[in-house]
Amino acid sequence: MCGIVGYIGDTVAAPVIFESLKKLEYRGYDSYGFATLHNNDFFVKKDKGKISDLEFENIPETLLGFMGVGHSRWATHGIPSEENSHPHLDCKGNFLVVHNGIIENYQELKNELKQRGHSFRSDTDTEIIPHLIENFAELGFEEAVKKAVGKLKGRYAIVALNRDSDKMIGVRRGSPLIVGVKNGVKDSDRREFFLASDIPAFLDHTNNVMYLDDEEMVVIDKNKRSIKFHNLERKEDVEKRLINIGWDAGQAEKNGFEHFMLKEIMEQKDTIMRALNQDVKSIESMADKINNAFGTFFTGCGTAGNVCLAGEYIFSKVAGKHINFIVSSEFPNYHHFLTDKTLLIAISQSGETADVLEAIEAAKKKRVKIMSLVNVMGSSLDRKSDYSFLIKAGPEKAVASTKAATSQLALITLLAYACAGKLNEGRRLLIETASKVNDMLNPRYEKHIRRLAEKIYKKDNMYIIGRSLNYPMALESAIKIQEVSYIHAQGFAGGELKHGPLALIDKGTPCIALIAEDEVKDDVISNAMEIKSRGGYIIGVAPENNEVFDYWIRVPDVGDASPIVNIIPVQILAYHLAVLRGCNPDYPKNLAKSVTVK
Ligand code: F6R
Repeated sequence: MCGIVGYIGDTVAAPVIFESLKKLEYRGYDSYGFATLHNNDFFVKKDKGKISDLEFENIPETLLGFMGVGHSRWATHGIPSEENSHPHLDCKGNFLVVHNGIIENYQELKNELKQRGHSFRSDTDTEIIPHLIENFAELGFEEAVKKAVGKLKGRYAIVALNRDSDKMIGVRRGSPLIVGVKNGVKDSDRREFFLASDIPAFLDHTNNVMYLDDEEMVVIDKNKRSIKFHNLERKEDVEKRLINIGWDAGQAEKNGFEHFMLKEIMEQKDTIMRALNQDVKSIESMADKINNAFGTFFTGCGTAGNVCLAGEYIFSKVAGKHINFIVSSEFPNYHHFLTDKTLLIAISQSGETADVLEAIEAAKKKRVKIMSLVNVMGSSLDRKSDYSFLIKAGPEKAVASTKAATSQLALITLLAYACAGKLNEGRRLLIETASKVNDMLNPRYEKHIRRLAEKIYKKDNMYIIGRSLNYPMALESAIKIQEVSYIHAQGFAGGELKHGPLALIDKGTPCIALIAEDEVKDDVISNAMEIKSRGGYIIGVAPENNEVFDYWIRVPDVGDASPIVNIIPVQILAYHLAVLRGCNPDYPKNLAKSVTVK
């Protein structure tokens, strides 16, 4: 869960890497480092702390050269410190590596390397990689990297440099690594290359990309301005297409908002509509596949997992179909049920979450067909799926997922209607929902929620209840509040309250009741009464006011699309709770945007 960047071009590399790294800070932000290569010398600057706290003027002018690498770290092995920051070097300082992921057998390799006389400066798993390359140095840089990665177990992406070479080498095995190419094919001797864990790192420069697949190595030669891809398993070179991904740099900027989280919440005015913009034939053909599969499962993690659970309810209610949700980290334990007639629907914003990728790999072994809903085009999940839908939410930079979640909900709802043979009805409902979201997201609405946040931000505990379609949104509300404001929040199915959680209610404990105009409305309201009579402070998120509410947040009545409109005010509340408590909602402590480790 780190961000890595590489650059080769005509511009002085250090400032380019500095700017690119800042764009990847959401992936990890406890330390940073960068290194350039010039006249066969490495120039390195690394430290603990956030790259965005480093002033541009403080980048040493001694970072010379037109090629280099950068790294933003989220610690897994070894505390955040200068020594543990990347890049890491071998004993003689000839090879340098930045790395994202985990090397599972690093301890064993480290012991072997120590016995051979290598000495280590850090506690990281990464540091063994330059030492391994050093071990095979006599084979030349490319061959040495091949041999070194052949020894590694785990999921990772690395970028390596050699002091005596003008080549930059990247290897991908389970963690993302994407090549950006500026100036295209025609002007090949002016081409500039970027290597990064995610596209926003180089969107200021280009939106033309080449994707590495797992088990692939890329070799970029600065002198020849050439690029070569090699499959490490098949031991052969592979050709890649240059793909224009259609995102622009503005989409990945804050555009006047103080935080990405608020900007992305407000973007839901448009993103829900974009998610619905799908090819009708593809939707209908997927609906057929779902209808004809023998056993369909949803899988995802965190917020995407809550969307899956909502999908389970939506499919049951709208299409009379039972689809089981299994959280991805548990999915491999369910392999007994899988056959070649099973369909697995995987939902992921990033398309790079390790648990999701493991789940689909386990399923593929049983010849299960994989369908995915994903935001990042060309991500591992997008490419490994038999059928893939892009939710088109644009780059989501805040760690807390907001706009991706509502886009996923919209598309799942559309698919459920298609399975029920009511695609047009579903489309009409969702277009109306998108337009009502547009009306909701105005400054007055935000201020009303901010006022609520001002009343409750000092509380230590919050509870959220919902039933049916809104039970998963109660779970999702809890994730949103916890992760950005650090208030302990828990979501329950309304009916479960009396089986334990009621004991937690004290005078003034804020409890959110998520309500829709549906058949469970009265039950949720009576659950809210139960809480109120024990002293709880009831926040009703509902189309209509009710005497049980101490604070009412109005949402439109949109029938089966209620999870979309009910989660949005909680996203806004979570944001303001975080800001009032002095937390940066874009960078919650201990979390990273895409969880590329198990
Ligand atoms: C919470 C959040 C995480 C992600 C989870 C899965 O706001 O963002 O819970 O939802 O890590 O990520 P993706 O969707 O990229 O697979």
